[in-house]
Amino acid sequence: MCGIIGYWGKRDASKVLFEGLKKLSYRGYDSWGLCTSSENRFSISKAVENIEHTDIDFSRFAGNIGIGHTRWATHGGVSEANAHPHLCPLEKIAVVHNGVIENFQALRTELKSKGHKFKSETDTEVIPHLIREYMNQDTGFVDAVRTALLRIEGSFAVVAINAEDDIMVASRRGSPLVVGIGDNEYFAASDIPAFLEHTKSVMYLYDNDVAIINDGVYVYNLSDMQPVRREVDSIEWDVEKSMKGEFSHFMLKEIAEQSETIKRASEQDPEKIKRIATWINNAKGIFFVACGSSYHACLSASYIFSAVAKMHINVVYASEFRYYKNFLCNETLVIAVSQSGETADVLDAVKTAKEKGSKVLSIVNNMGSSLMRTSHHTLHMNAGPEICVLSTKTYTSQLAVMTLLAYACIGNHNEGKSVLDVAQNQVYNLTSRSTRDHIKGLADILKDKDNIFTIGRGLQYPTALEAALKIKEVTYIHAEGFAAGELKHGSIALIEKGTPVIAFVSPVNEKETVSNVMEVKARGAYIIGIGPNNNEIYDYFIKVPETSYFDPITQIIPIQILAYKLAVLRNCNPDKPRNLAKSVTVR
Ligand code: G6P
Repeated sequence: MCGIIGYWGKRDASKVLFEGLKKLSYRGYDSWGLCTSSENRFSISKAVENIEHTDIDFSRFAGNIGIGHTRWATHGGVSEANAHPHLCPLEKIAVVHNGVIENFQALRTELKSKGHKFKSETDTEVIPHLIREYMNQDTGFVDAVRTALLRIEGSFAVVAINAEDDIMVASRRGSPLVVGIGDNEYFAASDIPAFLEHTKSVMYLYDNDVAIINDGVYVYNLSDMQPVRREVDSIEWDVEKSMKGEFSHFMLKEIAEQSETIKRASEQDPEKIKRIATWINNAKGIFFVACGSSYHACLSASYIFSAVAKMHINVVYASEFRYYKNFLCNETLVIAVSQSGETADVLDAVKTAKEKGSKVLSIVNNMGSSLMRTSHHTLHMNAGPEICVLSTKTYTSQLAVMTLLAYACIGNHNEGKSVLDVAQNQVYNLTSRSTRDHIKGLADILKDKDNIFTIGRGLQYPTALEAALKIKEVTYIHAEGFAAGELKHGSIALIEKGTPVIAFVSPVNEKETVSNVMEVKARGAYIIGIGPNNNEIYDYFIKVPETSYFDPITQIIPIQILAYKLAVLRNCNPDKPRNLAKSVTVR
């Protein structure tokens, strides 16, 4: 994971980098570091802390060129020594890296045998040492970076600078890297919000591109240094959208934005939706592949496709997809769903699908992401930047897009859109202050619990899974979701007096779900009912009006709010839960 940034321009680089890193800290926040270059020397600062909670003394830095990093540890513990940037032995080359160098041990052994001494346990440190090794053999800086990167097996997005000249080199393979082009100033970063306040002109780098930044951006192919042409796009996101505004946390802001983002997700080009519906209808075998919350959205969508379009869709965790490859052929359609478009497991699944000649459609939020570029066709969910590590608005946008597709498959795109309008209004009400206050009452009751169970049947089952994920990832309370009928087959043993059980109920499964609720109520469970109708067996009730196949969108909203309120009450950071990162670029 990790976030990287490079700046080349006219401003005080340390200030630009520091602010940029704050915007990237959702990608990892174990430690941070930055390095600027001026008059043949570097100024460096590193710390084991979340950069968002830091103040630094900018007078310690000089120069208009520099690089920065915010870390999610993979190789080596969380320590200052392991924080990036990493330097060459002469401390004249500095490198920041996002990715995993699979052959770093072999490279380290080789470099050690040549006398190199390492200061960290990271895989990254081999890069500046390799660069130095090649520069010692009379290779110029740019060629040395290139030769070093060609030795790397694994994934990287890298920005390197040399204290002894003004060139910045940025390159990627398998990890995201986007170049920002301003007025005589340039940025290279893992994600656009890092430099959005300075420019909206972006150039997406492709795998094996190397960008040389020196009074302009010159892009070459890493293997043969042939120039390659990359378009400059203008992006529509505004700075406001990537700021918290009046909200105390991004999580709350993004929850509140959902009625608007669902609307945007529903405004797809009808012709494109129609075309995609034809591919779905004509495919022989369809797979949804995704991870985390996106997987739960896919699972919901599989129920919706079954009910609306009478179509069977296989739903597979992206990390498990390779084990299904024998079922793929060139008539298979793989629908890869990912808010970031950078999840390594999803990209691997797409690779597997393409190797078998299958067609790949992606549903993505981040424009220009690796997934978008590697799939044959993309639907964009248009949710705008989601900064909180937890998926909220991107989850409901994914649901909106997939449900529209289900309706489009039976030629009823417009009906899908109308039902979605109703859901959107419900979401607006559900995110209002009065609902939030009602849910705060529940959070007060649950805040010291050790376990929470969530149950649901049919469409409500994936919502139960997503609800448990939301609660555990941000509150650290153990939470588990079940198909309501399954609880009695073992896990009911865990229910004791006062154990909270959240039941998602719809009129179509009310009778059966309420029976399952009775089973746990009889064993002392504290019941929270979520659905259109109250019931005397519920200890706490949150009313969510019925929205038919859009229930997964509306019923998750109270739980997103509950998870947020619980996190705040338990002093957990809602935007940056421990051990997590938003964009998981490791396998
Ligand atoms: C990480 C995030 C989750 C997300 C999952 C899949 O684990 O913390 O919130 O659901 O990745 O991410 P994607 O970008 O592929 O949707």
